Amino acid sequence: MSKAAAAMWQKEAEERDASDPLKEFRADFYLPNTGIYLDGNSLGLISRRAEKSLSDAVDAWRRLAVQGWEEGEPSWFYLAETLGEMLTALVGGNPGDLVVAGSTTVNLHQLLATFYRPKGQRRLIVADPLNFPSDLYALKSQLALHGQDESALRLVMPDEHGWIREEDVLKALGPEVALLLLPAVVFSSGQLLDMERITKSARSQGIAVGWDLSHSAGVVPHRLHEVDPDFAVFCTYKYLNGGPGAPAALYLSPRHRDRLPALWGWFGGDKERQFEMSPAFRPARGAGAFQIGSPHILSMAPLKGSLALLAEAGIDRVRAKSLALTGFVMALTDALLADQGVLVLTPREPKRRGGHVALRHPRAAELVPLLRRAGVVGDFRPPDIIRLCPSPLSTRFSDVLDAVLQLRAALTASSS
Ligand SMILES: Cc1ncc(COP(=O)(O)O)c(C=O)c1O
Repeated sequence: MSKAAAAMWQKEAEERDASDPLKEFRADFYLPNTGIYLDGNSLGLISRRAEKSLSDAVDAWRRLAVQGWEEGEPSWFYLAETLGEMLTALVGGNPGDLVVAGSTTVNLHQLLATFYRPKGQRRLIVADPLNFPSDLYALKSQLALHGQDESALRLVMPDEHGWIREEDVLKALGPEVALLLLPAVVFSSGQLLDMERITKSARSQGIAVGWDLSHSAGVVPHRLHEVDPDFAVFCTYKYLNGGPGAPAALYLSPRHRDRLPALWGWFGGDKERQFEMSPAFRPARGAGAFQIGSPHILSMAPLKGSLALLAEAGIDRVRAKSLALTGFVMALTDALLADQGVLVLTPREPKRRGGHVALRHPRAAELVPLLRRAGVVGDFRPPDIIRLCPSPLSTRFSDVLDAVLQLRAALTASSS
């Protein structure tokens, strides 16, 4: 690369950083000492706000002990619902439609157990093979629980680009399909699916619809109350910065507010009557009924701070910066990496991509550790994908440029 080209990209990155309306938010985050962090789609960084809400929870435990269930701020007893309400600013829905509980896979089991009811010829589940493996394991085990074998799982195969085509999803639907489960953003390619179109078509055919929003919640705005799937699940440790293993979220359509969950536990009960300790299960209304055991208060605590921070930044501004950053990754890849055989796998159209960019190279598996040694944290997904995720609140355009320059250096060093 010529010196003039390097200077031009440097200038562009600096100008974009200077005019970034969200630039002040970076100071809220602890930036890891491992280098430029482009792995927020695996684990989001800790913010000072999240650290404070975690230490407030520890302090409440110290000061209040058991009374923290009532007097903690917010009360521990209602923390799952309080955080669920905060999530509506990012993913839509109304208070009562969302709770924070369990893990993505556990919530998925609860919702599949409730909504997958094979009857007569309507017994198939439609999914895609690119969904996160844990989701596919949950689907297969739920099929087994109903005495169905894997032929009841109809997988929509990706096209020649490695993308899931919406037309192919629609073609896979029909009167023999009981349930559809898809990711809004595919974890490997970063492709964003048209949730509205798919949900509308499936629901009009009497198919129960669920979405996994793990790779989009907190970076792509969702309007669950408008799209109105039957349910959704998502983790909170990626773009929601809830911390490693933070509890997940579940959304239940208000159409099912009085639906009895398949799996019962005392935290799914009507809170006003929980301490009557009755042997009879009286469910809460809405998403709350789908919780099972006690909420993981300390693991949920950072979310209070991180969700407040995201709400302050505003999900539309977060998305606008995310698109600008991922667009910059793509432009730099075309200009500086394409001659080294690196291809962009993620769809380029803004409405078809999530918050990370997937690049393809036959030597991706060796390049990712080389990048880490050079101070750039991205990740590898088999067989040949390098994922780079510029989390909008903590990443600068100049970080993206440095990362791409390091990748170019790793490629040219390893090919010489
Ligand atoms: C799309 C998706 N679904 C499910 C999971 C699993 O989540 P959990 O470990 O909370 O069950 C992940 C984890 O990264 C994921 O990316």
